[in-house]
Amino acid sequence: MKTRRDFLKQSSMVMGGLALPIIPSCVAGSRIKAAGPMKTQHIQKPLVLWFSQTGYTKRNGMLLQKTFERLGLNATGADIRDFDRGGINKFDLIVLGSPVFYYDAPQYVKDWIQTLPDLRGVPVAAYVTFGGPEGNQHNAACSILEGLVEKQGVPIGIDTFMNMSSFPLAWSKDKVHEKTWMSRHLPNKDTYREVREFAGYLVDQVKKGQSSEFSKKITLRECSTWLAPVFWTKLFVKNHSIDKKSCIRCGTCVEKCPVDAIDLSGYKVNTDACVLCFGCINNCPAGAVHMEYDGEKVIGYHDFMKLKELKIIEPDEGLEKKK
Ligand SMILES: Cc1cc2nc3c(=O)[nH]c(=O)nc-3n(C[C@H](O)[C@H](O)[C@H](O)COP(=O)(O)O)c2cc1C
Repeated sequence: MKTRRDFLKQSSMVMGGLALPIIPSCVAGSRIKAAGPMKTQHIQKPLVLWFSQTGYTKRNGMLLQKTFERLGLNATGADIRDFDRGGINKFDLIVLGSPVFYYDAPQYVKDWIQTLPDLRGVPVAAYVTFGGPEGNQHNAACSILEGLVEKQGVPIGIDTFMNMSSFPLAWSKDKVHEKTWMSRHLPNKDTYREVREFAGYLVDQVKKGQSSEFSKKITLRECSTWLAPVFWTKLFVKNHSIDKKSCIRCGTCVEKCPVDAIDLSGYKVNTDACVLCFGCINNCPAGAVHMEYDGEKVIGYHDFMKLKELKIIEPDEGLEKKK
């Protein structure tokens, strides 16, 4: 029997097929390169910023910061939601990290970049964390870098780090998508080694005054991003609400929601505004966020981790304790 997921997959493939002839011209246009020289090769104050809903991107961002510190630099790390962007020009390297959502960088991150002041000559880099092969991760990282370069930053690097997906529709109580289950051991020591190497690579690039060019790849996933995947997925999400009885009013869902769609005073979710990032249900410590997909109750990320007794491997640096 065909499920709605099969239907969605097939429709997007058909529509993707129809769109194929226009892909090359659209994607090939996005060549990301420096418009001018690097401001300085004397690096002292790198800045690592991240948008992170379930902690993977934050963990790697903190490790980048820590590695910069170990290299003798005065590094700063922050969530973009807590960062005062007015002071961004005092940094001499900016690295921005984000999860991949729906085969792209989240719109919230792209919009946030637009609000930055001019970054003329500042070396910039991007990284993404993502939930499995074929996640369009390279292009998502390029999307972020592209935004920073439009602000006149000088591109020096991108990287992509895989971990278990935090996309709750990839699991139900009894069934987990193979791709998600296969990557449940990630991140691991190799991931963290790659993160540290990325930090070292970026520092070397700045010292050499070396910018790089990047371009998006032509992929079917890239094409899917033009077909409004959130819109289609939302068609099957029902009863997204806050359960008044279970809610402990901690405000986590409100903090996590990038579009202010949750009004805790009335226990209401504005489902029209919701961008289906699952930040609310993935992080609610009381299981008070309710949502059904295809007739089944959605289980949030932390509840799923508990249910399956999964534990995150932390880097040796002990990042959280340092804070
Ligand atoms: C709404 C949503 C959409 C996602 N879409 C993708 C995707 O298109 N490709 C992919 O590889 N991973 C996808 N993922 C997985 C996340 O990119 C991955 O779990 C990421 O590391 C989460 O980062 P965070 O913990 O910092 O929020 C998605 C996760 C969510 C919650």
